[in-house]
Amino acid sequence: MKAADGSEPQKRRAGERAATAVEDGMVVGLGTGSTAAYAIRALGEAVADGLSITGIPTSYQSRALARSVGIELTTLETDLPDIAIDGADQLRLRDGCCIKGGGGAHTREKIVDSAADRCLIVVDETKLATTLDHPVAIELLEAGWPTVQSSLEALGGSVTLREATRKDGPVISDNGNLIADCTGLDDPASLAERIGSLAGIVDHGIFVDIADAVYVGTESDVTIHQVNK
Ligand code: 5RP
Repeated sequence: MKAADGSEPQKRRAGERAATAVEDGMVVGLGTGSTAAYAIRALGEAVADGLSITGIPTSYQSRALARSVGIELTTLETDLPDIAIDGADQLRLRDGCCIKGGGGAHTREKIVDSAADRCLIVVDETKLATTLDHPVAIELLEAGWPTVQSSLEALGGSVTLREATRKDGPVISDNGNLIADCTGLDDPASLAERIGSLAGIVDHGIFVDIADAVYVGTESDVTIHQVNK
């Protein structure tokens, strides 16, 4: 599990409030990370109280949690999400652009979040930024590492493979690929398409035009920001 950061009470408020937007009969994209986990647990409680939903998980972690709290699961092969609830590592409120992938799940998160009719991003206040400068997670094929590294360096980035903490060698994603982290990119959102088109890249954690609303957990409440797309 990645290191915890941000405020747990704020994350909890944001996740639990977003879960109240889920209505009976909905198919729900289940994001990854500690903030999305609060939403999944709240949905599990609602299911125990009679709410009927099905979930599409974005990772091994969210699938296991959803199962453990009694949420029935489905896949994109048979259902499309009415709504998705997901976290972010850094978010720009002005346009809802965010950097994700701190947990290495951004590829499946992007698939599910973009397939949803509405994508709610849940964050604590520490995630908000006017300038996006969080390291960008990149999922890539092992064969592509040397060329992806040099292409990202040519864009001004500095890139390292994500190292596992309780295993020798690199982190391997749920999809069996490497994860690299790229720092130093000037305005990552404007580079999203270019980075996404590099040979060997599976996907990156820059989410542009995906969020429909942002739920920000604050000291005592939750502020909800609609994103104009
Ligand atoms: C996982 C993600 C997470 O949503 C992101 O890292 C935020 O996690 P947390 O809510 O634990 O801070 O993108 O790949």
